[in-house]
Amino acid sequence: MKRLAIILSACMMLALGECAVMAGSSVNVKELRCEYRVNPLGIDVVRPRLNWILQSSQRGQKQTAYRVLVAGSREKLNSDEGNLWDSGKVKSDRTIHLVYEGRPLKSRMRCWWKVRVWDRDGKASAWSEPATWSMGLLEPSDWKAQWIANAKDEPVNEAGPMPATMLRKSFTIDGPVKRATVYVTGLGLYELHLNGRRVGDHILAPEFTVYDKRIQYQTFDVTDLVVSGDNAVGSILADGWNGEYFFGMTLRQDQRPFKGRRGFIMQMEIEPVDGKTQTIVTDKSWRSTRDGAIRSGSIYGGEVYDARREMPGWERSGFDDGMWHQAVVADYMAGANPAWQRNEPIRVVKELQPVKMTEPKPGVYVFDLGQNMVGWCRLKVHGRAGTTVKLRHAEMLNDDGTIYTANLRGAKQTDIYIKRTDGEEIYEPHFTYHGFRYVELTGVYYRPWRYMPPYKPKVSDVLGRVFHSASPDAGHFQCSSDLINKIMHMIVWVQRGNMHGIPTDCPQRDERAGWMGDIQSFSQTAIFNMDMAGFFSKWLPDVRDSQAEDGRYPNFAPMDHDRWAGGTPAWADAGTVVPWRMYQNYGDTRMLAEHYESARRWVDYVHSKNPNMLWEKAQGSKFNDWLNGNTLVMEGWPKTGGAVPPRVLATAFFAHSTEIVAKMAAVIGRTDDAKKYGRLFEGIKAAFNEKYVEPDGRIEGNTQAGYALALQFNLLPDELRPKAAKHMVKEFERYNGHMSTGIQTSHRLMLELTRNGYNNEAHRLLNLRTFPSWGFMIEQGATTIWERWDGYVKGRGFQEPIMNSFNHWALGSVGEWIWRCIIGINPDESSPGYKHFTIEPEPGGDITWARGEYKSIRGTIISDWRLENGNFRLDVTVPANTTATVYLPAKDARSVTIDGEAAAESQLVQFLVIKDGKAAFAVNSGQYQFVSLISRLKRSYQERL
Ligand code: BGC
Repeated sequence: MKRLAIILSACMMLALGECAVMAGSSVNVKELRCEYRVNPLGIDVVRPRLNWILQSSQRGQKQTAYRVLVAGSREKLNSDEGNLWDSGKVKSDRTIHLVYEGRPLKSRMRCWWKVRVWDRDGKASAWSEPATWSMGLLEPSDWKAQWIANAKDEPVNEAGPMPATMLRKSFTIDGPVKRATVYVTGLGLYELHLNGRRVGDHILAPEFTVYDKRIQYQTFDVTDLVVSGDNAVGSILADGWNGEYFFGMTLRQDQRPFKGRRGFIMQMEIEPVDGKTQTIVTDKSWRSTRDGAIRSGSIYGGEVYDARREMPGWERSGFDDGMWHQAVVADYMAGANPAWQRNEPIRVVKELQPVKMTEPKPGVYVFDLGQNMVGWCRLKVHGRAGTTVKLRHAEMLNDDGTIYTANLRGAKQTDIYIKRTDGEEIYEPHFTYHGFRYVELTGVYYRPWRYMPPYKPKVSDVLGRVFHSASPDAGHFQCSSDLINKIMHMIVWVQRGNMHGIPTDCPQRDERAGWMGDIQSFSQTAIFNMDMAGFFSKWLPDVRDSQAEDGRYPNFAPMDHDRWAGGTPAWADAGTVVPWRMYQNYGDTRMLAEHYESARRWVDYVHSKNPNMLWEKAQGSKFNDWLNGNTLVMEGWPKTGGAVPPRVLATAFFAHSTEIVAKMAAVIGRTDDAKKYGRLFEGIKAAFNEKYVEPDGRIEGNTQAGYALALQFNLLPDELRPKAAKHMVKEFERYNGHMSTGIQTSHRLMLELTRNGYNNEAHRLLNLRTFPSWGFMIEQGATTIWERWDGYVKGRGFQEPIMNSFNHWALGSVGEWIWRCIIGINPDESSPGYKHFTIEPEPGGDITWARGEYKSIRGTIISDWRLENGNFRLDVTVPANTTATVYLPAKDARSVTIDGEAAAESQLVQFLVIKDGKAAFAVNSGQYQFVSLISRLKRSYQERL
């Protein structure tokens, strides 16, 4: 009896405790992520990392402890039973990269999890909404399926793309299904269909990797697609990246992973409500044909689709596949290594209606999507059965209104459709993608009736389907300047256009490669605009897989066919710069630990070739500061003086990569290496100064670019910084107040202008509309950032067609300056992942207000400022459990108020210092309004504005 009483009272106490918990904290736990992804399926990380975000309307809210529950079923989680892992209450403010420490995770396991936190007052939050992840097939032996293909699937050859391979199998399920999961991938690209429905919404899977090292597989929950009784599964397989002849390289078959051959593998595991799991696998019991509608599919070339060959019902049970052949087992795929897809898949994210249609020649219709975009078109096709219509895609028009295709080089970007019936048909391609603003439609001439006028397409016959790696949006920017809003618009669209599993240089010509120099330059901009964590987590292994034995990073990754190229300054250095960005912005130390050896080997390689610490030898492909001012074509424009001397650029990057390696080593606890590379960095700096820098701060070559690099990579002694900055600004004179920089230095120049007291110069450059400038591109009609400042000039026409993309992100790297300087949000690498950050807007030009919202890994940061009535008003939002240092223009602390009261005395924030016309405050989480009476600033800041 006594025992019962004790138990009862313990239960009551627990229940009361629970009540107290529920009524407790105002903090909410939101946005649970596992390995950066929302409810990922089929992961192969055995100790996955968990993230969440805290929300609170209270200022200064913090997490002081957390408790994570991971359960093997939803029911268990609902009853607060973490049978896989109950972390217990852990005193910690950690909300990102919490490593799962529960029971060992095995293939196929499904995990439900939730989090509760304790706030600064020790009050517990409510439990978060539940989230899930599932494990993939962790062991090679888990794959019971075999790689299969069609007997006629030859290695890729000069004949070009072959008809798509179709594969199918009928099967029966006895009884109701509890859960069905499919693990699937192919080489090159596949689509999976089940009982007449498409599985998943991903496009172009599996995405580009070094296929003979890693092929990403996809996991789908298909419980809702299978039925008790007769079922059928089918796949369409085309060549994709592995079967392409890209940018003019005629690759020998034996240089391609798996010789450029096709293969398909699928394993479907069906758990019935009662009984044993049934597994459907690819093997030679599958049927196959190449007689289907897709006569060819090519990333660059486009698709040929003969609708007369469609086989209705082929992906349903009951279809007669008697004319099909037995599939063959693709022995050549032995050794393939399926790995989970870490990044968000490529998906349709937007649709664009054409803004107009013209007919520059009889029967040639040109649709204008109004925006340079990447994806393909959905077409309503009219005409008699057998009519062949053609869609050609281009970014620009010729003077006569026809499409301009010379810059596409070998990429045809042409889809051909042959009609099946006399009625309207809808067509959308499958295994290709195009970069375009204009679509030319031909072949639609027909008279519905003899006496009727010919059919004229309608604007609504075409719909632009925009797709890319669907990394979530992170940044939203707006300001009072229409021009700068347009520049940001072009930057966001150029980013959408160049994320197709890998970061590409361009999406239209026969290239679309993972050029390292371009993303090295653009990576921080990309991170401000989108959550790139999943995307880079996928691509950095591609970079490592493409690294040469001697340590050279490639020029582009994946680079899967040989190791002839690489080791180029600024390009290869993406191998250090991008992982470091990942660390600064997402605080990802596991990635650093995985990447460290590779980064170190790269720096060692450069050092081994250049023991005197000046990178003058072994400069790889010597791209230097690509597309610098010397390459512009305009009467009167200087032909020399823009290109930084290659050894100056190379040595600057050598120093930068070495410093990053030293910092990486420090973060992951490789103390000796941190010292060693720290010393090397100092040595390179000293050598750089001795050899290339004059006592008056002039740098060899006297180029804007050279100064920008030396300043940005902190290579100069303090006393020379202002002198070098002055030379940099002086160099605008030769160019009538313009930049002469290339893709590696334009954004760095902007950043260093602001950092060195020339903020107004930076604003002036961004506001130019004259040649060359971002505004000039807009004046010439750009809707995305161009490869060249002068890609097209009204009156002069196009630059040389060989290298003239109108969707190239490198010069869009100025987005970093817009975020860091106009909005003022800056990560702090000493407290990475925005645990602490700075907000330091640098108003200038004629901008009167700007607002930026950045969804960091720890929550949304807002910087929203306005100049009005002689005041500078700054509204900031600092996410819960983070802190910020806020800088704003001010003469002294007394001229600043916070929420209407004198900031210097305020208990809300802590005044730190006045420096260079700015007041600095330490700020805890929450929303605050600062107002600075800048009219009281006599000559300083206001003059600079
Ligand atoms: C690409 C560039 C790239 C370069 C190397 C070009 O073909 O489009 O953006 O970085 O090659 O110089």
